[in-house]
Amino acid sequence: MKKILVTGGAGYIGSHTALELVVSGYEPVIIDNFSNSSRRIIQVLERLADRKLHCIEADAGNVDVLREVCLEHSISGIIHFAAYKAVGESVEQPLRYYENNLFSTMAAIKVMREANIHSMVFSSSCTVYGQPDENPVSEATPWKEASSPYGYTKQICERMLSDVSKNDKHSGYCLLRYFNPVGAHPSGEIGELPRGVPSNLVPFITQTAAGLRDELTVFGGDYQTADGTCIRDFIHVVDLARAHVAALNWCEKNPGSCKAFNLGQGKGNSVLEAIRSFENVTGVLVNFKIGQRRSGDIEQVWANVEAAEKELGWKTTFNIDDAMRDAWKWQVHLRENPGLFDGDN
Ligand code: NAD
Ligand code: WQD
Repeated sequence: MKKILVTGGAGYIGSHTALELVVSGYEPVIIDNFSNSSRRIIQVLERLADRKLHCIEADAGNVDVLREVCLEHSISGIIHFAAYKAVGESVEQPLRYYENNLFSTMAAIKVMREANIHSMVFSSSCTVYGQPDENPVSEATPWKEASSPYGYTKQICERMLSDVSKNDKHSGYCLLRYFNPVGAHPSGEIGELPRGVPSNLVPFITQTAAGLRDELTVFGGDYQTADGTCIRDFIHVVDLARAHVAALNWCEKNPGSCKAFNLGQGKGNSVLEAIRSFENVTGVLVNFKIGQRRSGDIEQVWANVEAAEKELGWKTTFNIDDAMRDAWKWQVHLRENPGLFDGDN
């Protein structure tokens, strides 16, 4: 059974991907420092996977540890999720973001060479495009200035991986540009664990619906869109997780290549449509008001996903209603099990 190193595998997208790896016959080896996740997620993953999982608590930027883990487990591919991801926080603490996101990526690249690993799947983001001139954006759409240090870390890492790949004829490098990952595992037992007040829309919706927040503010109702609110491409996290398995296959079949793929549903939904979807599938109303625009928000962006469909052989299977249903299941699970993931990070 091929072993895959999953850096950041206890996090939101990494945990769902670890499960999909198991389902697809791979053995994930997780490395996480739990800076933005809970150790208890590993026990839940083990129960859902019905097997013991390898998990090493360490900093993914530590080359010595990474090398040791890769050699010990004869790792055949790396999926590199470990990074800080809060856009606003990256503006306040840019160095912390550059340090974590760049060093961990450099460490993963170095270790690939030293441990004879030939597949690298990297977590990138639609943030690399900034506000595009046209929608949907394809992988050929030119990048704009990133709107935050976080965005720059993704642009720099993509560039670094692309440069390194030019001197590595034996390995495949897949850069996955996620649009807006939402939802949770359909079991409702793993999902996104925002710390403090969520900055992302869907956790704010579910926490407001659960009574943990008084009111959701929709940031801006005066955009040049049909209902005046921003438009995003919301992708169910399980669809996203499955794309990583497809990306690993692509890497194995494409040594000497480095390619970026957009991962979204390939359609846009407005913020108000997202709220309505949540209300329709759950029957729970969300207390919201239209407020001021949020600084740095782009008006609308959604993905052209033809390349991923054609070359990765991947397609989304869930829609926004499924994502809202599962996000709510997860929120209800947290409510019914207070303190489940608290206090250990
Ligand atoms: P997350 O914070 O839930 O998961 C990241 C995991 O990495 C956490 O478990 C954290 O503890 C761990 N981690 C961070 N730095 C580490 C380090 N130096 N060593 C070891 N572990 C470390 O985030 P996520 O939403 O699952 O995002 C995963 C990846 O996808 C990130 O690279 C993120 O930038 C990217 N991404 C996320 C989104 C999104 O909206 N969630 C969108 C586009 C791209
Ligand atoms: C979505 C829409 C908000 C909260 C971010 C990162 C991006 C990528 C995905 C990592 C926007 C509106 C939100 C709220 C609202 N992450 N909103 N009220 O900003 O599209 O993307 O996550 O790579 O880089 O920037 O996601 O969920 O924050 O916002 O009205 O309380 O919801 O204005 O239009 P965003 P989001």
